[in-house]
Amino acid sequence: MTSRPREAGDAAPRRRTVLLSGLAGAGAGVVTSAGAAVARERAAPRGGGGGGGGGGGGAPPAPPAAVARERSAPPPPDPRLTRARARGRAFRGEHQAGIIEAPPAYGTFVGLDLAEGTDRDAVRRLLTVWTDDIERLMDGRGPLTDLEPELAAVPASLTVTVAVGRRVVETAGSAVPSWLAPLPAFEKIDALDDRWGEADLLLQVCSDSPTTVAHAQRRLVVDAGDLVRPRWVQRGFREPFEGAGLPMRNLFGQVDGTVQPDVTGIDADLLWTGAGAPSWLRGGSSVVVRRIRMDLDRWDRADRVTRENAIGRRLDDGGPVTGGGVDAAADFSATDDLGFHRIDDAAHMRRAHASVPHERFLRRPYSYDDAPEDADLSNSGLLFVAYQADPVRQLVPVQQRLAEADLLNLWTTPVGSAVFAVLPGARDGEILGQAMLG
Ligand code: HEM
Repeated sequence: MTSRPREAGDAAPRRRTVLLSGLAGAGAGVVTSAGAAVARERAAPRGGGGGGGGGGGGAPPAPPAAVARERSAPPPPDPRLTRARARGRAFRGEHQAGIIEAPPAYGTFVGLDLAEGTDRDAVRRLLTVWTDDIERLMDGRGPLTDLEPELAAVPASLTVTVAVGRRVVETAGSAVPSWLAPLPAFEKIDALDDRWGEADLLLQVCSDSPTTVAHAQRRLVVDAGDLVRPRWVQRGFREPFEGAGLPMRNLFGQVDGTVQPDVTGIDADLLWTGAGAPSWLRGGSSVVVRRIRMDLDRWDRADRVTRENAIGRRLDDGGPVTGGGVDAAADFSATDDLGFHRIDDAAHMRRAHASVPHERFLRRPYSYDDAPEDADLSNSGLLFVAYQADPVRQLVPVQQRLAEADLLNLWTTPVGSAVFAVLPGARDGEILGQAMLG
């Protein structure tokens, strides 16, 4: 709903010219003319005929008129690039982008810490720079400092979402929401590593192009200068071929993300903070990022029935084991011939199902598959990302039930956990965090 079609190729190439001409005195002008020469050479017809110039055999240099013609008739753009360029998402509005839109294929989550001694003015400077950078990047333009704006020219549904930890709110001198704190310990399941723990700031960078994600991430971290230090970077992906808006398949092969609240409709209050939160956070949300290791090697040893029972859904199409397609309602009361529940009493779906309407939240997970460590064969799992107005009220009771009993716990281990307040959107003329900074 926030997609905004754009004309292909606008803005970025022009910025490159400006940047390079601004540097001409430092020799960049040479780079420009060399680039033009390479482009002319590529445009020349093969076989050396036609007076394209620059070929072997002592062909005469192209006459100025031919060069002008080449310049005025660039090759037609690659339609795939045109489509990816056109997919820009709107930055300004009541809420930040990157939450209710269908998640793009790649997502990187960067936890950052504020430098020691950072004060409120410095937080304001940081958010001023990031606001401008993010607005440009989502629009397919490089930030002001960008020396590779071509990398920004293909937003491919880029969104950057900024969230803050308790320390930033305190530094800004604003009221801290009661839930902005680590989740309670879930001793039966947690094996948390501080390396993936709480941070002062979160950048969630999502796009259908991993190059765009990497570029946006780098620009934002570099432009923050000495004000922040990255604490962790968690890279995730969702398979791109399932189609926009559809749930993904996680690395256990399960269709994941099916049952969700209607956050663009009647359940919007479950997502955006309301009267219960400090006024500066109206239009914002909270995000819980849990890194959950999935033991693929052990999962390999489970048969298909065991795997389907663990969730209560079929592996082929994600439908409930009680029947129907992926969108069918699960029948939690159905029993088999022996009188046992067909959806196991400890099946993940049963345990996670809301027992009261407010125990729901928006799940926006990404898979990760990193280099194995130690003697393990794999280092894979889920970046469990959940958005909700109040994590303590909505998510914690569910997580408590799952920690108490969930068949999935046989194969999964939470190794990281962090909670952030998602800043409200920046309206025209505002910076992100404007109300927080007063
Ligand atoms: C690696 C860890 C996890 C995996 C592989 C996983 C996988 C799944 C799968 C396959 C489903 C069924 C399809 C769907 O509705 O999305 C599901 C449902 C669900 N999961 Fe998870 N999940 C994980 C962790 C969690 C955690 C930590 C929570 C909450 C704290 C959670 C909450 C839910 C909820 C609320 C549902 C929907 C239940 C319903 O049918 O009402 N999951 N999960």
